[in-house]
Parts: sequence; structure tokens; C-alpha cells
Amino acid sequence: MEINVISIFPTMFDAVLEFGITRQAIEKGLLKLVLWNPRDYTEDRHRTVDDRPYGGGPGMLMKPEPLARCIDDARLSNSGSNPGPVVYLSPQGDLLNQQLVEELADYAGLTLLAGRYEGIDERVIESRVDREVSIGDYVLAGGEIPAMTVIDSIARLLPGVLGNDLSARQDSFSNGLLDCPHYTRPECFEGLKAPQVLLSGDHEKIRQWRLNQSIAKTGERRPDLLERVNLEEGEFDTEQIKLLKEFQIGATR
Ligand code: ADE
Repeated sequence: MEINVISIFPTMFDAVLEFGITRQAIEKGLLKLVLWNPRDYTEDRHRTVDDRPYGGGPGMLMKPEPLARCIDDARLSNSGSNPGPVVYLSPQGDLLNQQLVEELADYAGLTLLAGRYEGIDERVIESRVDREVSIGDYVLAGGEIPAMTVIDSIARLLPGVLGNDLSARQDSFSNGLLDCPHYTRPECFEGLKAPQVLLSGDHEKIRQWRLNQSIAKTGERRPDLLERVNLEEGEFDTEQIKLLKEFQIGATR
């Protein structure tokens, strides 16, 4: 997958280029990140990327011309034929969730646009942006951290990135549920024992226990998620479907 990133602070992306899963994905050739700086597309001596908003008000906006030229160049450069959609990170966007991450991970190419200041000129959104994405209902100083959030969440889904391709799909949210608790050695830590079933070696029992834990935890903490669980799609047995249905009915009462 090839991701273009448009930002006036390209070195912020060293965080994904140099560390962890994202770095490994790049080293394995499964992910390519190309950074584009709108400042390189300015034509004045001061390399100006911002301007005052029409109508007044606080703060500055990213001016349209350098941004538009930068986006166009980025999309034309894609080594694959299809550069994919342009995604603008903004608090006005669709809320990012695992389903949207999976959708974005299916593109061969993507262009992530990280804004600064109070935002970007609306005409760039109209002419160049296919989708606006928010990482939550709070306001950050720029779109770089949201863009890195998108990159990180996509990278771990790309086939071949995680040692075990199944693990990304077994995570929290892959079936719409929160993750179950996990334990490692020692068997007894500060007087607390790891659940015996996990030491039993009975894989089917362990799978059932984990699923039950996930259902219970999701019911307690995020009943809103339970309402949307697809009972046909999951690997649920009749007992669990009964439990899930009770939660779902409880939530609508
Ligand atoms: N830019 C500033 N705040 C943001 C948010 N919450 N999500 C995406 N982009 C943003």
C-alpha cells in the first residue's frame, strides 16, 4: 500500500517511519509512505502557506493554491495506477472506527491531508477531498497525529505485517466486541492467579472463555457496541447468542 501524507511538518512522521510495526511494514516493502510539504508548492519569497480568514475571526487558514498543487502532485506520483481517495483529517469528519480502518486498508493507495491552523480553505475540500475523517470529538492542533493514527491502524492490518495474519483479525473490535483479558507468566503474580482455563490446553474451552469475557466486558463498558454486533457473522454458540440478545434487548429498553 502506498500512502501520501501532506503536511507542513513532515518530520513529525518520523514517529511512524522509525518505530514499531509501521517501520517494519515499510522495511518489508508492504507499506510505502511518501511525505509532501505544501511549503514546497508556494511561489513567494516567504513560502507562505497560511492566510487570514475572510469575514474575520481568530487564527489563520491554510491557503488553497499551494495545498491544491501539492495534492495534485502527490496523486500523480503514485507508483500504482490508482492513487485512491484523498482523506482530510478534521474534527468535522466521520468518526474513525475499526470498520472504517478496514475499509481504508483495502485501498492500494491513499492520500492523507493533515491541516494546521484553524483548517483549510473550503474550496480545497470541495474540489480535492473525497472523505473527511475525525479521530474523536476533541480538537487537536493539527491533523498530523490523526494521520499517524490512521497509518498505524492500517499498517497492522496489511497482510504480512504482523507475524500471525490472524492476530489482527482476532483483536478487539474485529467482531465488534472489546478484547478479553490476557495473562502471561508467572502463573501467580502478587497473590493473583491466572485463570485456570487458560492453562488447561483445551483450545475450544479457551476460545469459549475468551468470547464470554469479551461479551461480558462489552456489556459492562460499551453497551452501545453490543447493539451493533452481527450475530450471524460471529463465531458465537447458542448460549452466547442468548447472552448477546439479552444485552441487545436490555440496551433498547
Ligand atoms: N484535526 C484536529 N482535530 C482533529 C480530530 N479530532 N480528528 C481529526 N483531525 C483533527
